Amino acid sequence: MTLTVLAIESSCDDTAAAVLRGTGDAARILSSHVWGQADLHDAFGGVVPEIAARAHAERADLCVERALADAGVTLDEIDGLAVTAGPGLIGGVLAGVMCAKGIAVARGLPIVGVNHLAGHALTPRLTGEADFPYLMLLVSGGHCQFLIVEGPDRFRRIGGTIDDAPGEAFDKIARLLGLPQPGGPHVERVAAAGDAGRFALPRPLLDREGCDLSFSGLKTAVLRARDGLVAEKGGLTRQDRADLCASFQQAVVDVLAEKTRRALLDYLTLAPGRPVIAVAGGVAANGAIRARLSLLAEGMGVAFTAPPLSLCTDNAAMIAYAGLLRLERGEADGTGFAARPRWPLDAQAPAMLGAGRKGAKA
Ligand code: KG4
Ligand code: ZN
Repeated sequence: MTLTVLAIESSCDDTAAAVLRGTGDAARILSSHVWGQADLHDAFGGVVPEIAARAHAERADLCVERALADAGVTLDEIDGLAVTAGPGLIGGVLAGVMCAKGIAVARGLPIVGVNHLAGHALTPRLTGEADFPYLMLLVSGGHCQFLIVEGPDRFRRIGGTIDDAPGEAFDKIARLLGLPQPGGPHVERVAAAGDAGRFALPRPLLDREGCDLSFSGLKTAVLRARDGLVAEKGGLTRQDRADLCASFQQAVVDVLAEKTRRALLDYLTLAPGRPVIAVAGGVAANGAIRARLSLLAEGMGVAFTAPPLSLCTDNAAMIAYAGLLRLERGEADGTGFAARPRWPLDAQAPAMLGAGRKGAKA
């Protein structure tokens, strides 16, 4: 049955709304509007939860209006609502949930509360690039985990960060070296002219079995290397900066590649018909990371895919899709469901540590 779903996402620093039409097997994004808040948080060096929550509350309905207008549909044509109900910064999540519940009540429509991570994890189904089960590496400023996606609501987390997310590390390194935020793209650009072998930085957790990752020690090692250079010469040359960026990026690539190799071995024991690894999240935009993971996958006979960047980073189309999968099965949550700061996708996996710059990890 074809459904038209309106969705809202507000779990971090993007207010987003989208309209999706179709079925779980063939859905089309009619509109996807993302209103970022980087300008509001820039001066503070990170997302300020109270500022984010207020902006979401002020903008959610405007985003909805814009998404409906872009899609060329009215609320009369909407069959159901989907909204991110967690995990994330609770004030922001609440703002989106209240807006969506308001529309649902006013229009008498079914509503589902969606796990933000499920939205990311199911995106390769939305783009038609993977069949269940597939392996997903989610790497952004707030997330870092390996998931085996076995079905629309069956996720097995086989590893994740025990402290920072890699995007946080890229952003921190940029700050240490006086580069603009968000730092990832700038670190990558500067690294292109650098010598990745100049600084011997650690490859955290490679000596530990399994697919868990850690990035905070790497950050500290770059800080020490930078301070060493400053103490020695009174400052950094352009080449020093490039070499630090290149050495850091290489360490991240090496760690992600080795942990991904282990995750792939685990995944391949399921003997998937057409094995696929999908990467998503802002860090998946990094050319060096993509190239290395794609090479690794090819060597292991696994297809490598990454959704287009607009669907890799936070958006409401992925929330609409995850919601559509439930709505088309006749499921709905009523209006009593709660907004949740933490909401692990895989309730069986041990809890992750840390609550990074962009909020609680799950
Ligand atoms: O998925 P995203 O837009 O937002 C969330 O974190 O939820 O990811 C943003 C993160 C930032 O930390 C940014 O520095 C990082 O992704 N990023 C990159 C690159 N582009 C964005 N990191 C490394 N290399 C890049 N090219
Ligand atoms: Zn996200």
